[in-house]
Amino acid sequence: MGLGIAETAAAVGGLQVVVIDVDPDQLGSAKEKVRASLGRAVKGGKLAPDDGDDALERIEVSPDLQAVSAADLVIEAVPENLELKLGVMGEIESVINSSTIVASNTSSIPIAELAAVFERPERVLGLHFFAPVPVMRLVEVVNALDTSEATVVAAREFAERIGKRPIMTKDRSGFVVNMLLVPYLMAGVRMYEEGFATREDIDEGMRLGCGHPMGPLTLCDFIGLDVLYAVCDSLYEEFKRAEYAPPPLLKRMVASGRLGRKSGRGFYDYADSERSQPAKPMSAVVGER
Ligand code: 3HC
Repeated sequence: MGLGIAETAAAVGGLQVVVIDVDPDQLGSAKEKVRASLGRAVKGGKLAPDDGDDALERIEVSPDLQAVSAADLVIEAVPENLELKLGVMGEIESVINSSTIVASNTSSIPIAELAAVFERPERVLGLHFFAPVPVMRLVEVVNALDTSEATVVAAREFAERIGKRPIMTKDRSGFVVNMLLVPYLMAGVRMYEEGFATREDIDEGMRLGCGHPMGPLTLCDFIGLDVLYAVCDSLYEEFKRAEYAPPPLLKRMVASGRLGRKSGRGFYDYADSERSQPAKPMSAVVGER
């Protein structure tokens, strides 16, 4: 998601962006991935070809966090793991200046917990994006206990500048969208687990019956089952409501490395398909294999 945020900030907002990653492979392929995505935007008539080239030039990649020391805004988008995020926030705190705003793209970790790392927690908030970032219009602006009004105003202005529609939410696990979306997705997983219907019929039901662009199981694969598991855990921990508890099948799929599109296998098999193509169904019909 970090790359999607960087691409959108550069292409739509016209901003200078630095992408930081500790993994040399990710860094090495970052610009190519952005180039490919910008190409899709150009092809879809969303961006002039020259603007795509200019946007790419505004994106710098670096393994060194010092490269963001002069940034007005730093957006953390590392995997959904509290220890990892706290560590990264500590590193960000050690390089930024007194006016930098720090946002987390977390989908479920309390912003207050991340903000506690900072000397100026009033400059910390949540900016929760949706995948694929260049396409999805929404950003949740998460107002944590210590976030100042000025920080919220600046974050909203940033979201609007990069073409997003900000909505405000309190710092509660799941914010607005995941609190509504995740119980629905988990109901789809439980329905499949219980053999109520085939995965294809569950997905087609919501696609054709309700006009959703993807059915729930395809969407689970798209988001990543490990991400959803972490969000479920966090929602359940916060509210202790049964609908948020991760279904047993989800837990086992994560344990066996079936994480969805990114690992090549989830509820569907993606081994031979391009990332952007529809999922190719496996031969099994219903149930855990
Ligand atoms: N930049 C700008 N626009 C782009 C683009 C890019 N890189 N790539 C594609 N587009 C545009 C296309 O031009 C097209 O525009 P149009 O509708 O005006 O013609 C539109 O985006 C759709 O692109 P495609 O035709 O290539 O793709 P599909 O029609 O197959 O749609 C999809 C793909 C957008 C992923 C769609 O299936 C979808 O909306 N799925 C649901 C995604 C969703 O629910 N995301 C939220 C997940 S929850 C989350 O992220 C939160 C986390 O915390 C869990």
